[in-house]
Amino acid sequence: MIIVSSKHSEDLAQALAKKTRSEYSQLTVKEFPDGDLYLKFNTEVKGKTVVIVRSFQPLPNTALYTTIFIAETAKDLGAKEVILVAPYLAFMRQDKRFNPGEAVSSKIMAKLLNNSVDKLITIDPHLHRYKSLKDIFKIPAIKITANELIGDYVKKNVKDPVIIGPDWESYQWAEKIANRINVPSTVLRKTRHSYREVSVKVVKPIEIKGKNVVIVDDIISTGNTIAEAAKQAKKQGAKSITAIGVHGLLIENAVTKLKRLEVKVVTTNTIKHKTNEIDVVGLIADELR
Ligand code: R5P
Repeated sequence: MIIVSSKHSEDLAQALAKKTRSEYSQLTVKEFPDGDLYLKFNTEVKGKTVVIVRSFQPLPNTALYTTIFIAETAKDLGAKEVILVAPYLAFMRQDKRFNPGEAVSSKIMAKLLNNSVDKLITIDPHLHRYKSLKDIFKIPAIKITANELIGDYVKKNVKDPVIIGPDWESYQWAEKIANRINVPSTVLRKTRHSYREVSVKVVKPIEIKGKNVVIVDDIISTGNTIAEAAKQAKKQGAKSITAIGVHGLLIENAVTKLKRLEVKVVTTNTIKHKTNEIDVVGLIADELR
């Protein structure tokens, strides 16, 4: 097995190679002067299993087409099998045509990967309207969850916690983690007004006053969802607020915004960020061994 990566996700790829005692090889990925993609393998892959490690953030569009070029080249060079490890899989939130004429990006992304890779491994993909990855992937598509690691983190670092999920679909993380570590939880109802504007409502109240609140979601992007949930928790007298995101996209000063609301942000290392405190490499390694 050879693990490859390019400019992004190198740290994860190298850690994974170390953990699985596999060869690691850095790809050369650059652009020709006119902007065309240039790609080169720097190791022999004939007859071998090639594992491409690339989180689809930053630069999700580039990640997708670069991955396809890498997978196709690996096959062209005689690789036996091509596995994509995309700890964060982008495009999953566009799981329906919300407005006439829109692309259903998740389906297109899956179709392209179905054609080019033999197997996909990802962590906590955004499954909302799809029940499982099988709804869009024909290749074996393995979903790993970081719930156990997040539960352990909460147990170790937060005294007397209650867990809040900021929207209905976050029950997959909030409720599941709460049940695992036996603490109270609730999920809020979220209305999205635009890309950057959301509002949340408490539908099943739990005791928040004097508690250390942990808000758990799969993705923290602009941070606005967490900010609205945090404001609710503050209003109800939370003692402290920690926000845990599996995938910290953390765009547009999300961390600063949340810091102003006295929210501590913690993420897993599916996407490299200074808020990474939970390491998912072992989870992926177990799946590859
Ligand atoms: C969508 O429902 C996801 O689970 C997240 O809640 C969402 O992507 C967070 O986005 P933002 O941080 O921009 O509010």
